[in-house]
Amino acid sequence: MKWTKKHLLSIEELTREEIDFIIDNAFSFKDILLRPIKKVPALRGKTVVNLFFEPSTRTLISFSLAEKHLSADSVNVSTKTSSVMKGESLLDTAKNIESMKTDMVVIRHSSPGAAKFLSERINSNVVNAGDGTHEHPTQALLDFMTIKEIYKDLKNLKVLILGDILHSRVARSLIWGFLKYDTKVTLCAPPTLMPLYLNDFDVKIEYDIDKAIQDKDVVYILRMQLERQEKGLFPSLREYVKEFSMTYERYLRIKDKSIIMHPGPINRGVELDGNVADSEKSVILDQVTNGVAVRMAILYLLNGGKNE
Ligand code: CP
Repeated sequence: MKWTKKHLLSIEELTREEIDFIIDNAFSFKDILLRPIKKVPALRGKTVVNLFFEPSTRTLISFSLAEKHLSADSVNVSTKTSSVMKGESLLDTAKNIESMKTDMVVIRHSSPGAAKFLSERINSNVVNAGDGTHEHPTQALLDFMTIKEIYKDLKNLKVLILGDILHSRVARSLIWGFLKYDTKVTLCAPPTLMPLYLNDFDVKIEYDIDKAIQDKDVVYILRMQLERQEKGLFPSLREYVKEFSMTYERYLRIKDKSIIMHPGPINRGVELDGNVADSEKSVILDQVTNGVAVRMAILYLLNGGKNE
């Protein structure tokens, strides 16, 4: 197929063929990552700005590495070091950056829709690196790549998404994507962390973790957003661990061939036991490796898929 989209804003807007196409390209870029010299000239002469208004380790580093491996020139801008601290708006920041003749902007922002807002107002390609509770499309793409690496196809797999679904942009992107593949999705969370909009989606909702973990090919655990705790969404952290954490005892009851996934950062001892994160079924660090390859593929395709 031929790539036609100018921006990468959400999984919702992608077709299944487009997701497959990105992942196929990412597998080729993973071969480059495994070489001693990890460099191709695909983005030579292009400038990329990584505009991160929220903290990040994995996404920012993997975009930065992807840009370097593709020979782009890139700069990182964060809230603390930019004039946003002096009251400058997102649009003014972006227009000033573009006046410096940039080609691509990768943006992480706390407001849902920030990446789309930018894409409608500047000429550069825009990549959504996480916008509030809306979507985190590159995370879902690297997750789909990791699952395909093990199971070849997503169709008919039984997937459990477990944890703080209410606040999770990763969960939204995953659900949009899995449903395009006819994956069988079960969601498990305390009722206060299960958003009402999910009633409109073809997913199973299960509040009993011990039932939810049965027969799943993929157990995808979400970060408990500890910063929300004081809002009283569940009685106590101890209660949450008892009712909804992937303890080692529960881990021993999941299917032999099941895999454990997590987008990071991990709260060990909260949403999952540290021994589960480090277990043989865990592919959490494979997800991180694939993140570089997926981000290389996205930047390459948005640039027109040309080698120079
Ligand atoms: N998964 C993820 O987005 O991690 P970071 O917040 O560290 O980028």
